[in-house]
Amino acid sequence: MKKLMAVLMALCLLCGAALAEASPRILIAYVSRAGENYNVGVADPDSASASYAGYIEKGNTEIVAETIAELTGGDLYHITTVEPYPEDYASMLVRAQEELDSDARPALAGELPNPEDYDVILIGYPIWHGAAPRPVLTFLESFDLSGKTLIPFNTHEGSGQSGTAREIAASAPNATLLEGIAIQGKVAQEDAGCTREKLTQWLEGLGLAARE
Ligand SMILES: Cc1cc2nc3c(=O)[nH]c(=O)nc-3n(C[C@H](O)[C@H](O)[C@H](O)COP(=O)(O)O)c2cc1C
Repeated sequence: MKKLMAVLMALCLLCGAALAEASPRILIAYVSRAGENYNVGVADPDSASASYAGYIEKGNTEIVAETIAELTGGDLYHITTVEPYPEDYASMLVRAQEELDSDARPALAGELPNPEDYDVILIGYPIWHGAAPRPVLTFLESFDLSGKTLIPFNTHEGSGQSGTAREIAASAPNATLLEGIAIQGKVAQEDAGCTREKLTQWLEGLGLAARE
């Protein structure tokens, strides 16, 4: 009887391990801002940025992050800064350039998630002046991501991934970095079907489209 119990317990443990393997715990952490941005939304004729920027209620990367959450069942975390970013596009360009020039690590607002609760972290961000936003680096450098799988995704208006995987790898040297995806912000904002299709294909390739 004792032997039978031991065998049953071992089987349960094995099943548990197999399930954990099959369903990794997923965090989708992202930087994204609503307000004025390039090539999307409706322009405010009174704004100083009106000639090239429109207003959006929800950031492009946030839309992508939410779609990934739907497709994977992962948890969402919006990375925000103590000093919020301006809604005005022209001011935002200046702020992002200043942070890039000084290679800043802007302080993050709110409580951070615990990476120990996750196996896979998808890290999302827009391209700002050809680079990843500095708060993404603050976020990654807040943890030791040993044993974690890290997967970048980003939105942009022409720069693609812009070599940002290198920045992500440097800020999370102990994580295993997998192939990311870049989606045009305008597509994320205006074509939910296309965005979903691209993400589904990518997530299937990574074996993460668990809830489809
Ligand atoms: C400050 C700033 C700088 C940007 N620089 C670039 C750039 O270098 N290359 C690019 O393709 N898009 C650039 N963009 C466009 C954004 O990457 C794009 O609109 C992105 O989808 C915004 O994501 P969000 O709405 O989640 O913030 C820039 C946007 C801002 C606000």
